[in-house]
Amino acid sequence: MRFKATLSDVLLFGLLDPVVSAQNVTYIPNTYIVELEHAPSTKAASLFSQRLGGRMKYHVRKEFNNAELFYGLSLTVTDGITQRSDLLDITGVKNVWPVRLVPRPEAFVAAVPNPPSNNTIPHIRGNSDVNRPLKMAGVDKLHERGIKGKGVKIGIIDTGVDYLHPSLGGGFGPGYKISFGYALVGDDYTGTNTPVPDDDPLVTYAVGGHGTHVAGIIGMIDAQNQGFGLVGVAPEATIGMYRVFGCSENSGDDVIMAAMQQAAEDGVDLITISLGSLSYWEQASPYVSLAESIVESGVAIIAALGNDGDLGPYAVSAPGLAPEVLAVGSVENEVYPTVYKAQNNIGGSLEYIRGLDFPVTDLQAGGCDTRVWTAAQNAITDGANTAVLIYLTKLCSLSAYSPELSALNVTTVIYSTDDPDIPVLLPEPDTVGQFTVLFLSYNQSQQIVSDIEILATGKEYTLLFNSSTIQDSLNSAGHAIDYFSSIGPTVEMTLKPQLSSPGGNILSTYPRSAGGYAVLSGTSMAAPFTAGVYALVKSQRPDLSVAEIISLLQSTAVPMKALDMDIISSVTQQGSGLINAYAAVAADSQISPSQLSLLDSPKPTKQTITIKNTSKKLKNHSISHSGASYIRTFNNFTAGSDQAFFKFTNVHEARYATAKFSKSKLSLQPRKSAKIEVQFTAPDEPQPYSEPIYSGHIKIATDSSSYVVPYLGVPYSRSDTEYIARNTTAWVGNDRPYVGSDSTSPGVVNIGNYSILGSDGSVPPDINVPIVNFIIVQPSNLIRLEIVPVNTTFVPTYYGFDPSVKFDVADVDLPLQEGFLGVPNYGIMAQWGIGHIPPGISVASLLGWPYPNTVTGFILLYPFLTHENGTGFDLTSGAFRPLLRVLRYGANGTSADEYESWLGPIMNVKTS
Ligand SMILES: *[C@@H]1O[C@H](CO)[C@@H](O)[C@H](O)[C@H]1NC(C)=O
Ligand SMILES: *[C@@H]1O[C@H](CO)[C@@H](O)[C@H](O)[C@H]1NC(C)=O
Ligand SMILES: *[C@@H]1O[C@H](CO)[C@@H](O)[C@H](O)[C@H]1NC(C)=O
Ligand SMILES: *[C@@H]1O[C@H](CO)[C@@H](O)[C@H](O)[C@H]1NC(C)=O
Ligand SMILES: *[C@@H]1O[C@H](CO)[C@@H](O)[C@H](O)[C@H]1NC(C)=O
Ligand SMILES: *[C@@H]1O[C@H](CO)[C@@H](O)[C@H](O)[C@H]1NC(C)=O
Ligand SMILES: *[C@@H]1O[C@H](CO)[C@@H](O)[C@H](O)[C@H]1NC(C)=O
Ligand SMILES: *[C@@H]1O[C@H](CO)[C@@H](O)[C@H](O)[C@H]1NC(C)=O
Repeated sequence: MRFKATLSDVLLFGLLDPVVSAQNVTYIPNTYIVELEHAPSTKAASLFSQRLGGRMKYHVRKEFNNAELFYGLSLTVTDGITQRSDLLDITGVKNVWPVRLVPRPEAFVAAVPNPPSNNTIPHIRGNSDVNRPLKMAGVDKLHERGIKGKGVKIGIIDTGVDYLHPSLGGGFGPGYKISFGYALVGDDYTGTNTPVPDDDPLVTYAVGGHGTHVAGIIGMIDAQNQGFGLVGVAPEATIGMYRVFGCSENSGDDVIMAAMQQAAEDGVDLITISLGSLSYWEQASPYVSLAESIVESGVAIIAALGNDGDLGPYAVSAPGLAPEVLAVGSVENEVYPTVYKAQNNIGGSLEYIRGLDFPVTDLQAGGCDTRVWTAAQNAITDGANTAVLIYLTKLCSLSAYSPELSALNVTTVIYSTDDPDIPVLLPEPDTVGQFTVLFLSYNQSQQIVSDIEILATGKEYTLLFNSSTIQDSLNSAGHAIDYFSSIGPTVEMTLKPQLSSPGGNILSTYPRSAGGYAVLSGTSMAAPFTAGVYALVKSQRPDLSVAEIISLLQSTAVPMKALDMDIISSVTQQGSGLINAYAAVAADSQISPSQLSLLDSPKPTKQTITIKNTSKKLKNHSISHSGASYIRTFNNFTAGSDQAFFKFTNVHEARYATAKFSKSKLSLQPRKSAKIEVQFTAPDEPQPYSEPIYSGHIKIATDSSSYVVPYLGVPYSRSDTEYIARNTTAWVGNDRPYVGSDSTSPGVVNIGNYSILGSDGSVPPDINVPIVNFIIVQPSNLIRLEIVPVNTTFVPTYYGFDPSVKFDVADVDLPLQEGFLGVPNYGIMAQWGIGHIPPGISVASLLGWPYPNTVTGFILLYPFLTHENGTGFDLTSGAFRPLLRVLRYGANGTSADEYESWLGPIMNVKTS
């Protein structure tokens, strides 16, 4: 097998302009999770070994022996079987998943309030509202009543924790705040090597920063005269830490799953997971069935939905995408909690946030204008006494880390944003390094620029950054969904996120060696906040089931408006809304279901909601409907280029469904329940190819409180609409699909002599390759591009040529294959698939997953095709037509009419 996938991907990026967001699915080589039929009193690994009968060599990574949760093992094959399908053929094997790499959890470091110090915890003075997130979510009112999560056990799956931090209890084991846990991997684990477990989840360096921050959000208490006076959401809960990352790189699905299973076996009430890998599809995720059985056993799972808001709808992460997991979106803190004041010499002052000291070496280069750096380099003569002010923009924020910065030799870097509505957010660096980093708000950076103009008069201007008291500063993006927060639903239309919690600019504990505290941002912060609230509710209402508690959390959440707009944010971004702990504990109605997915239909099926009065009084309810923002996966129809078109922009449209209720008033006696029916009609949508989603909330108001049920849907039937974008899909660029590269005679594309790759894999500059370029605008489980005879009798949905015109050209000199669903072919150019793919399609022949928000194009780079079984062979000179077939969403794919298809013009190639 040659490296077709890799090479074509490279070229897709290098040569074809339309390809934008190709997300990586990174598998750990030859590594699988194998689920087995349960055999009583046998360990999964030895059962598997018996069944296998020596057909391959492998080593076991993780065992899953709890038949109630998941029975099987994960393994790396070292010799023998190389395909998932072969493993599936082994007796007793129920399912097999390749193991994906799970990236280190991503959070944006905004600030570390004090310089990294000698493991000492500073005492920070000032009048900052450091516990503002607790107030945003009604947690303060529960704390006032002594409700702090006592008796609830929470398992955290993360990077480990510095439990020696005094605010986290200063120790480990029974009697301590962090009282249990395990390191499923050691320091050296990278995701691809064999994990070496250890009893102790302690990590004292910055690499354990993420887990230490997460643990603090749940459980920290700053002692008097120490730290800031911070309090976690559930400071009396008992916490366990399951470490799943080494000191660098990634983890694997099987390690995360093993941690989930172990936490459940350790008797936790809930598991919180602030990590994940971008997945889109529920199908093919190994977490779905494990999550279901863990929740069935009475343990809740709460997870971050991801920080991929810039990718638009459907870009959700696993395990958060599993239907039984409560996935959380992130809300921006109403204040920047750690703001210092710098004094200047002209009687003024300036507010700033002190950042983590960055290393300059391993920072990513960005795409900003390099002339800026050259100009800066020329201007700076005395680096040690120069501070650079860098504006971060949404488009080139990473350039702030470019190596060019180190060439400036400065010691102080001041970051700011070019937009008052973008909170200052930076990716988390791995280690601490050489710069002093300060962050200014937009307004403050404007001030510094005008202050500095005084220099023009020849006077000296100084700013002293030596304050040791903090204050806060109002965050203009506060109390709204963070722009980075991932946008649901799943491709299968499960409503995600279920709700949202504070996650942007959150101050919490950090390893002592790295300063003791940090302000981080991400859904990683929102998930443990939610876990803390779950614990508060659980401590008060221990008899409720997981689903009942989740329902209370969702129905009492408060929908938020989009930033600076008079429109409710899409449910795809906020779920129910901002969590309200006080209302959840006080709730005296139980509503089910707690969310509605209306799937893909202009006229969804009638929905039923059950309302139960759990109070001791007669209650009157009034029921109404409120629409939320309409959101499109592709929304820039005037973009002028494909790149811009496919870049998601967070545009809010006031386009709503209508809802008709069977009754709008309801009286309920104590302990009684009643059903309400609701018929939704989706808004009209003439442009389904923009992949829009509508949403809103059903509102149930009683005399004393109000509840919501969020819903979302796709306003058209996916199976009835266009899959292959064509001329009618009035956007930009070429008429698609098209073939290239040279179109001299109508109906025939003469490709001429191929250039092939250089021996070092490089692409010659004059490359002249056959191109088939297409865009798929609905989710599909299978996209297939094959080459067929010029005179094929196949009747496609669309012709890419005039079928009445005949040409006399000789076909390629290749044996005709049986093909797929009765269409003989010469071979496959490319094929993408996921989940329920039709029988007859070999998993080995798939290049990757089809994503619903990704342009798909293809270049036949090398004169190279594959057979149905995935083995490759060379193309010869001659003619053929490309045939594109796309399986309609929801169909089995076992008959030809379940595909939308396009048959292209003749491609006449001459291989050299
Ligand atoms: C995909 O992975 C490669 C190699 O790890 C990386 O260079 C690239 O940036 C990734 N692309 C995306 C879109 O994440
Ligand atoms: C670190 O703290 C210890 C104990 O307080 C002290 O003896 C030592 O000098 C400190 N080291 C530095 C580099 O400040
Ligand atoms: C930066 O500093 C290094 C070491 O002090 C020095 O060798 C180099 O010339 C400096 N570069 C500039 C551009 O000042
Ligand atoms: C649409 O694309 C154009 C061209 O790239 C860009 O200038 C414009 O800002 C985009 N509009 C939105 C709403 O993103
Ligand atoms: C695309 O539309 C334009 C304008 O309507 C038309 O001139 C052209 O022939 C169409 N191309 C195809 C391939 O249908
Ligand atoms: C296809 O049909 C045309 C017209 O009938 C004929 O001239 C040509 O030779 C055929 N090509 C092949 C490869 O059979
Ligand atoms: C794949 O299929 C081709 C053509 O049918 C066959 O020649 C080849 O041996 C097969 N390869 C494997 C590994 O089965
Ligand atoms: C898909 O296939 C299954 C079993 O092969 C069958 O039960 C089901 O009805 C099929 N569904 C459709 C939509 O054809």
